[in-house]
Amino acid sequence: MWKNAIEDAMLKIKQNIIKHPGKLPHIIEGQRYEWGDNDDWIEGFYTGMMWLAYEYGEDPFYKEAAESFLANFKDRLDRHVVLDHHDIGFLYSLSAVAQWRVTGSEEARALALQAADRLVARWRPQMGMIQAWGKEGDPENGGRIIIDCLLNLPLLFWAHEQTGDSTYYDIALQHALKSQKFLVRGDGSSYHTFYFNPENGNALRGGTHQGYQDGSTWTRGQAWGIYGFALAYRYTKLDTFLDTSKRLARYFIERLPEDGVVYWDFDVPVEEGTPRDSSASAIVACGLLELLDVMDQEDPDRVAFGEALKASMASLVTGYATTDLPDAEGLLKHGSYHVRGDRAPDDYMIWGDYYYLEALVRLDKGIKGYWYE
Ligand code: GLY
Repeated sequence: MWKNAIEDAMLKIKQNIIKHPGKLPHIIEGQRYEWGDNDDWIEGFYTGMMWLAYEYGEDPFYKEAAESFLANFKDRLDRHVVLDHHDIGFLYSLSAVAQWRVTGSEEARALALQAADRLVARWRPQMGMIQAWGKEGDPENGGRIIIDCLLNLPLLFWAHEQTGDSTYYDIALQHALKSQKFLVRGDGSSYHTFYFNPENGNALRGGTHQGYQDGSTWTRGQAWGIYGFALAYRYTKLDTFLDTSKRLARYFIERLPEDGVVYWDFDVPVEEGTPRDSSASAIVACGLLELLDVMDQEDPDRVAFGEALKASMASLVTGYATTDLPDAEGLLKHGSYHVRGDRAPDDYMIWGDYYYLEALVRLDKGIKGYWYE
């Protein structure tokens, strides 16, 4: 089952590269991507997919295509094109770090370290956090963290491994601990975002940006938490991060709808037409694969996690993948970007495509993506 889905995905990646040379996908409504420049938070997912495709089948076409974008990512960093956000981690882990991991390129390594320094510049010591969005002192976002940032931390952990400079590690660790303390709630659900007072670092309140309402659990936020804390455990070996990832995973699995693919928020009233978020389920599949890799063989959660993984991946492959649409640009239908903001509520999400492929190639060949060695 996985092989056919992977073959179909590889074909679609190739089609996109040929059809849109030098361009990168942006999210838009209408079951297609809009092809443009490197100026959003999502471009790394596209190059990440090329690296997965190359590692899977060793067809140099994908490697050459991915490599051809490195100069573009360098130019973006040098010119600081729309980089007032923490997603530098997503962008450069799946482009520069991925290229270094697969090919050993020194140029890619240097670029990734430069990107890590840019992320470090978002560290706000008075609050002990990495600022998610906007410039320092921004009145709305100056004291704000979001759960998605957990996937940006591997870039810092990696930079520590590469350089031995403990600053990268300390910042990533402190941010993960802050996220754990303020974004994860007692019942294993999560806030999407949390605000602190930039003057004195005092905790203010939890809230949401893309979820149903403040205090609800946005399923993709929960997904970032599951995979992100599992990765924080991978780098730090602190059991507390493993426990948190498992708690979040239990919460997620216990609320899966019948077909194993979540709606966009766990608290939204479900009625006919309520949007799903297939991308959240794809991210969680990767998080569960990571958890299953590090959990004890005797861990009582093993069976439930393994079953949920298989059921949701089978559902994604049979009910959500675009295998029935040979000309489709996306791999997964029914992702949602920002339902409450009426932005692409039922469309292709390039990160959904990336994590879906990451989970597939991990299931089929043990290729595990680019978040750690
Ligand atoms: N990191 C932004 C999102 O998940 O939509």
